Amino acid sequence: MNNADRVALVTGCSRPEGIGFEVCRQLAQQGIKVLLTARDESKALALAFTLQSEGLNVTGYSLDISSIESVRNAVNHIDSLYGRLDILVNNATGSTRDWSATSSADLETARQVMDVTVFGTWRLTQAMLPLLQRSENGRIVNVSSSAGLHADPELGLTGRAQAPPAYGIAKAALNALTAKLADELRDSGIKVNAVCPGFTATRPRMAELGARPVAEGAKVIVWAATLADDGPSGGFYRDNQLQAW
Ligand SMILES: NC(=O)c1ccc[n+]([C@@H]2O[C@H](COP(=O)([O-])OP(=O)(O)OC[C@H]3O[C@@H](n4cnc5c(N)ncnc54)[C@H](OP(=O)(O)O)[C@@H]3O)[C@@H](O)[C@H]2O)c1
Repeated sequence: MNNADRVALVTGCSRPEGIGFEVCRQLAQQGIKVLLTARDESKALALAFTLQSEGLNVTGYSLDISSIESVRNAVNHIDSLYGRLDILVNNATGSTRDWSATSSADLETARQVMDVTVFGTWRLTQAMLPLLQRSENGRIVNVSSSAGLHADPELGLTGRAQAPPAYGIAKAALNALTAKLADELRDSGIKVNAVCPGFTATRPRMAELGARPVAEGAKVIVWAATLADDGPSGGFYRDNQLQAW
């Protein structure tokens, strides 16, 4: 399929400094039609306008993946405009500043993180599957994190530089969701992968701490979103390399 015929949806694009916004730019630079989505419609429209000003085919749309009504609206919107979806990038995540130990973490906060990262992604993916199944080469990319890996001794679940427990646990569950769905869809032509953008400078002062530029972090997501038909499915990738998880 020509890129000009492909349609992509990216979640969690509410900030110009964020990875989702840059993924929209890089996909659109390949000629793909991109739906840039954020919970706040005004932010989605403004950021889409920025990319339109760069000559890119990007439209903004409001999408809250915690809301089944919002998800259904997005499905109907894409169905009526394009009749199918080729690329789904699940970039939205629940975040938390609760650095308490696992034994004392605030469970209401943890539930909210899980609700977006795991159930929101699962909800949206289920709803979009009929549209993805109409694509010749559907691709699902779950933007995960090394924080959810068992196998990373530095950043992983039991590593030296751990993320807040709820974040790591939610990303580990997202990796498991990726594996289960890829297994179920293995004969469908739809590829499902989890990727980690690496430590990426999406907030002030992160670059000083060694974070990579957003354009670099976005690359692995775009790679997984545009995999060839003989590409992999069901893995966890960082810098386009398969990682044990
Ligand atoms: N930056 C890094 O170093 C790094 C490293 C590893 C992995 N990642 C992953 O990369 C992705 C992007 O992260 P980022 O650093 O660019 O941060 P970010 O801009 O904060 O991205 C998270 C996005 O999720 C959205 N979101 C939260 N709840 C939502 C919901 N219910 N429905 C729809 N969207 C929702 C947020 O929107 P609101 O503004 O409306 O809350 C925000 O746009 C995340 O999955 C993150 O875990 C980042």
